[in-house]
Amino acid sequence: MASGIEEILIVVSRSKNLIVDYFDRSLELEAFLKKKQKTHLLEKNKIPNIHIQDTRQPYARGLGDAILLGKNFVGNEPFAVLLPDEVIFEKKTAGLGQLIKVYERHKKSVLGLYEVENQLLSNYGVVEWQKLEKDIGKVFSIVEKPSNNPPSNLAVIGRYVFNPLIFSYLEKIKPGVGDEIQLTDAINEMLKSENSYGVTIHGNRFDISRFEEYMAANQFIQPFNE
Ligand code: G1P
Repeated sequence: MASGIEEILIVVSRSKNLIVDYFDRSLELEAFLKKKQKTHLLEKNKIPNIHIQDTRQPYARGLGDAILLGKNFVGNEPFAVLLPDEVIFEKKTAGLGQLIKVYERHKKSVLGLYEVENQLLSNYGVVEWQKLEKDIGKVFSIVEKPSNNPPSNLAVIGRYVFNPLIFSYLEKIKPGVGDEIQLTDAINEMLKSENSYGVTIHGNRFDISRFEEYMAANQFIQPFNE
């Protein structure tokens, strides 16, 4: 929302209904607060005034498959992908907003990058790129979870802006590592014929799939309507 996104599709697995419920009314809570004459607290629980839709991913066929489930929702427009196990706190321009600015200039897909310690690079897609100007560069390829010789120290951190063209690559590629449709494979195919940019993101970034980063991220969390 902080980046100006007004239409959101949340792709969830069967066991993640709480995420969908979070953006819905809670009749139990409304009744309880009414009984206790504390309805003013409902203000804090308001549903954001944007279009939020959800869909289930029935089979765990990977990130690429999850994105393909959004094809009809997206239509023929550029769109952003946000992986929620990466959180970025930045007051000036939100993480995704920094990518959108680059998209608006170049009209090409943009990957969000962040410098990561050497020993952690094997957890991420790592880019081979050429820096063009401050924070922005041209991406040549992504090596997914490099076990040695990473091409740079810049990890792809779950923020992307794509042209709808990416769907045709996602539809063409065969299942890769883990028998899953890998977004990285589709991006690498696309990079053979399409320029794409990388932007090093400013902000406090946490990979909340790592316990210590999850704990550290909590100090920044605010309810979405504050
Ligand atoms: C996915 C992507 C990887 C990216 C990472 C960011 O990996 O495949 O390229 O760097 O998200 O968090 P996963 O975390 O699903 O293993």
